[in-house]
Amino acid sequence: MDFHSLGNTSVVGLQWGDEGKGKIVDLLTEHFDVVVRYAGGANAGHTVRVGGEKFALHLVPSGILRPGVLNLIGPGVVLDIEILCGELDALRQRGIAVGDNLQISTRAHLVMPWHKKQDRLSEAGLADKKIGTTAKGIGPCYAEKMLRSGALRAGDLADGAAFRENVTRICEERNRLFAAMFGDSEPMDAKQIADQYLELGARLAPHLRDTTLTLHDAVARGDRILFEGAQGSLLDIDHGTFPFVTSSTCMAAGVAAGAGVRPSAIRSYLGVIKAYSTRVGSGPFPTEQDNATGNLIRERGHEYGTTTGRPRRCGWFDAFATKYSVDLCGITQLAIMHLDTLGTLPEVKICTSYLHRGQPLKIFSPDIKVLNEVEPVYETLPGWPGDMSGVKSHDDLPAAARAYLDRLEELLRVPITLVSIGAERTATLHRGPG
Ligand code: IMO
Ligand code: MG
Repeated sequence: MDFHSLGNTSVVGLQWGDEGKGKIVDLLTEHFDVVVRYAGGANAGHTVRVGGEKFALHLVPSGILRPGVLNLIGPGVVLDIEILCGELDALRQRGIAVGDNLQISTRAHLVMPWHKKQDRLSEAGLADKKIGTTAKGIGPCYAEKMLRSGALRAGDLADGAAFRENVTRICEERNRLFAAMFGDSEPMDAKQIADQYLELGARLAPHLRDTTLTLHDAVARGDRILFEGAQGSLLDIDHGTFPFVTSSTCMAAGVAAGAGVRPSAIRSYLGVIKAYSTRVGSGPFPTEQDNATGNLIRERGHEYGTTTGRPRRCGWFDAFATKYSVDLCGITQLAIMHLDTLGTLPEVKICTSYLHRGQPLKIFSPDIKVLNEVEPVYETLPGWPGDMSGVKSHDDLPAAARAYLDRLEELLRVPITLVSIGAERTATLHRGPG
């Protein structure tokens, strides 16, 4: 693939998150000057493996691992500064330089302890209706942003007295609310929270900037910019399987708004897909294999959450749902991950369409009432050996694996240009036009 001809590129997950966006962003950063996170927060878990070392990033853009790359956290991200500071410390301890190469928008909203608490309390009260959130306070923080009056942004950390006053007001209100709504008897300590957050804020101060301005300058200079998506299109607040979604616009259209850049500045939309499907938390998953096949995929693919450690639900690749994401996001090329994981199965299945009450659906519907009544229609293809350590180029792939890719490409009608056959940077194959 000629990375230079890509132009400014957005990397978007097309399933329910955990597609392997971190690895692809890390791989591409060599060809880019700037990497931008624009949505979500510490609910994301992006795993990057470099030289046998594993890095799990939640808020810091994956470009941090490449010297010389500027990393921006845009205004659309919700910022848990406790997790962020921990992440920065851990990176520094492992010899990764963090300084002028990281800028954080002063307009990013702060995830506060009451958001995390509300996330936990409201999930606990939902019994069998739980969303299965990551409990990172994402939904409550985005809701607060929309409500405005009780929201705090990173830039507010600069005025200690005003921040303290606001924390006291909001925290006391929340204590009363949580006691009344959830019978909570453990009030939060406003002073301790203000002290802690102002201390964390002081540590982050050198990074807090108007990243929108930085981004506009970068666009004007002709810097090559990579946008790192979090979550996946099927978790999008408007276009995903609501209410079993996250609280942000994580499909491609969220990039411009969340980063602060004109939509036309983005030239390519690279969709990341996994060779099978996974989902964490509740919600419909028509191709789920809650059986030996699903268990095998989970163990071979280490499908346990990077953020929460929860076992991921596993199933066959859903080309019908993914085609919807491809169209929704205007995907121009695809990277497929974990092709090695699917190996060793005697045969593999691809869902090509759904029957709804016995009738074929024309296009995928994210409506859960529909999804709860669909029956996936599968095509079966032969499997391939799982050990791909000797495979150095696309042409070395077993014929059955190549046939699988060809069929996915046909169904999704977008070229697959990158194929991952292992966690390392080097275990990635370039695939030319078929
Ligand atoms: P990355 O960036 C997978 C899921 C949660 C839950 C739902 C709502 O690693 O792909 P939230 O805490 O966001 O309110 O939870 O969304 N979820 C993810 N699943 N990967 C992610 O991020 C996710 N971020 C949120 O499991 O079902
Ligand atoms: Mg993840």
